[in-house]
Amino acid sequence: MDNIPSSPGKFKMEKGPYFHRRWQHSSFTKFTFWSILFVGIIFFLFFRTPSSFSSDTSRRSLRTYNYGGSAWEKKVRSSARVTSKNGVTVLVTGAAGFVGTHTSIALKQRGDGVLGLDNFNDYYDPSLKRGRQALLEHNGVFIVEGDINDATLLKKLFEVVSFTHVMHLAAQAGVRYAMENPGSYVHSNIAGFVNLLEVCKNVEPQPAIVWASSSSVYGLNTKVPFSEKDKTDQPASLYAATKKAGEEIAHTYNHIYGLSLTGLRFFTVYGPWGRPDMAYFFFTKDILKGNSISIFEAPNHGTVARDFTYIDDIVRGCLGALDTAEKSTGSGGKKRGPAQLRVFNLGNTSPVPVTELVSILERLLKVKAKRNVMKMPRNGDVQFTHANISYAKKEFGYKPTTDLETGLKNFVRWYLNYYSVAATAE
Ligand SMILES: NC(=O)c1ccc[n+]([C@@H]2O[C@H](COP(=O)([O-])OP(=O)(O)OC[C@H]3O[C@@H](n4cnc5c(N)ncnc54)[C@H](O)[C@@H]3O)[C@@H](O)[C@H]2O)c1
Repeated sequence: MDNIPSSPGKFKMEKGPYFHRRWQHSSFTKFTFWSILFVGIIFFLFFRTPSSFSSDTSRRSLRTYNYGGSAWEKKVRSSARVTSKNGVTVLVTGAAGFVGTHTSIALKQRGDGVLGLDNFNDYYDPSLKRGRQALLEHNGVFIVEGDINDATLLKKLFEVVSFTHVMHLAAQAGVRYAMENPGSYVHSNIAGFVNLLEVCKNVEPQPAIVWASSSSVYGLNTKVPFSEKDKTDQPASLYAATKKAGEEIAHTYNHIYGLSLTGLRFFTVYGPWGRPDMAYFFFTKDILKGNSISIFEAPNHGTVARDFTYIDDIVRGCLGALDTAEKSTGSGGKKRGPAQLRVFNLGNTSPVPVTELVSILERLLKVKAKRNVMKMPRNGDVQFTHANISYAKKEFGYKPTTDLETGLKNFVRWYLNYYSVAATAE
């Protein structure tokens, strides 16, 4: 008996003859009890695992989407149809997002075939994503609703359309939210990215991939302006760490499978249809509502500044990177020669203090802000960002042209129009 693992029977036997008799005589009850317990544990673990990070993540990863059918395929094909002579076919992930919407429209307008993919998660108001979706539909771009972790869906999309390029913008963005829902960053920025690359490496021909990294990879770097040659081994947030991981993952898939990969480190992008979780956006909302706004300062009254980059400049950078992306070199899931691997800063090269951002908003909104200056908490934010963009300039003539005042004027015009329209519609 000693080398038999402890069993319920054995355990109960030790309790005495009463238990012994009862369990022997009710082996059916025993079987039922342990079966239910076993199934219960499996059930618990299945639904519990993703939410060990957060319930939010599990909700998203367990969501199912409807796709397939001839009407659906027709929409996919029509959206991805090239209308210009040298047009390319691009799958844009995160198309209902801020940068994804603008980039998809720009690609479509110059005659490329564009198909969007987005899971419409509720990290911020999904109705804004639906608004962008309507704008895209108006421009002839269809967004497939699904998750980049869904390999079956991704394979299906590549079966229907032979994409030459993937513009991968889907991600869990935001620095501070990582302390609240770390699992969503792992889900989208790491697992989702790997899943996408796995599918891309196997399709024939492999697409070239341009994807969004972030200026946040510079983390605690103090050497300015930030250059692609600088070390990026001190991320200050989990968001930054997942973007940095993405850059290393990109290296691996380029090295092993010959995928052409270009990472773009965006610097604080702003503009119409922007993200409500970003300071320029919620400052506008709070100033208009008469709420006080928190403005962070670094130790010893140090200035917090950002290299704010206008969305149109970023879009030009995305298109430049896409147009200079070389073909992937793998086939049959194997590398057949060296492939292109690049990382570019896409910034504005002129950091502006956040206090100045607020002054510009005050002038544009004609409302005085209630400023609440406070010490910068340690929540993932860094004191300043400043891009050196000479590499992108050399490779594809990247040259930002919009200063903060002009860009914010466009944003405020859009904001007032969009939200007053929304308010009337309610
Ligand atoms: N906006 C900026 O200032 C900035 C700065 C640096 C880097 N970036 C990066 O640029 C990209 C675009 O940013 P954005 O500002 O447009 O953000 P966004 O949140 O507006 O857009 C991202 C979109 O991806 C979708 N998405 C997220 N996870 C997904 C998943 N698993 N499957 C399918 N869709 C998913 C979201 O629903 C969202 O619509 C992101 O990768 C972001 O990390 C943005």
